[in-house]
Amino acid sequence: MDQPHSARMYDYYLGGITNFPADRETAVKTLNAFPAAPIAARVNRRFMHRATRHAAAAHGISQFLDIGTGIPTSPNLHEIAQTTAPHARVVYTDNDPIVLTHAQALLRSHPDGVTAYMQADARDPDEILGHRTLTTTLDFTRPIALSLVALLHFLTNDEAHTLVEQLKAALPAGSTLAISHGTPDFDPDGVARVARIYADAGSPIHLRTREEITTFFTGWELLPPGVVPTRTWHPDPDDPTNTVTDADASTYAALAHKPA
Ligand SMILES: C[S@@+](CC[C@H](N)C(=O)[O-])C[C@H]1O[C@@H](n2cnc3c(N)ncnc32)[C@H](O)[C@@H]1O
Repeated sequence: MDQPHSARMYDYYLGGITNFPADRETAVKTLNAFPAAPIAARVNRRFMHRATRHAAAAHGISQFLDIGTGIPTSPNLHEIAQTTAPHARVVYTDNDPIVLTHAQALLRSHPDGVTAYMQADARDPDEILGHRTLTTTLDFTRPIALSLVALLHFLTNDEAHTLVEQLKAALPAGSTLAISHGTPDFDPDGVARVARIYADAGSPIHLRTREEITTFFTGWELLPPGVVPTRTWHPDPDDPTNTVTDADASTYAALAHKPA
């Protein structure tokens, strides 16, 4: 708890109270270097809501796997999914022990559905795919909506591509993949300052260009509008984050579909 952690810093940006002095100290340094961090977190969170709704409503998916869940912030993914599909089954995963201690909040499922949590590391996809919680909660013969939202930039190229490729191979046709990801494309100096602070805090980040992020979807069908600045991905008309600049959000997002 005396080391800053990305999950708890993100919680601080979102106005949460599940963070400690070490997290707040590094988060404040980030805010000084990149004042839009809380805006970027909100833009990202709203993409998760829209992508989840889209997978459930437009693709009829009722099984969800969310890796890099973060500290619960309502509405959480299962609340969005179960609003459209009350019987939705959701598995959450994170490697931060503090997320585990708050997992009870995530497990308050709609009575018709299921919500489960497993602590696992995204750098070990075999552990995730073989985890009993996953294999007993989700049916891998039916489509699954996979969410890697604001996660992959915490992984090296090797780690990120190994994770994505193993998961893509394991999921059946009709599954979807939602990714949001930090990028240097809009404000290279601003995000370089953030990257230095995270690296100094022991949590290096790997920002990627639009082209690099697009490679995570190789072999799957990118759904319109493709890989775009996050707030422009199927924006809700009355969303206050619609007016945020690309530089302030500094992320891309997309949803793809596994073809038959
Ligand atoms: C920026 S937060 C995003 C939270 C949530 N997905 C969202 O978009 O609101 C990144 C999350 O990824 C988790 N994370 C980072 N590295 C991870 C790893 N190697 N394995 C599992 N989770 C990880 C952090 O603990 C944190 O909760």
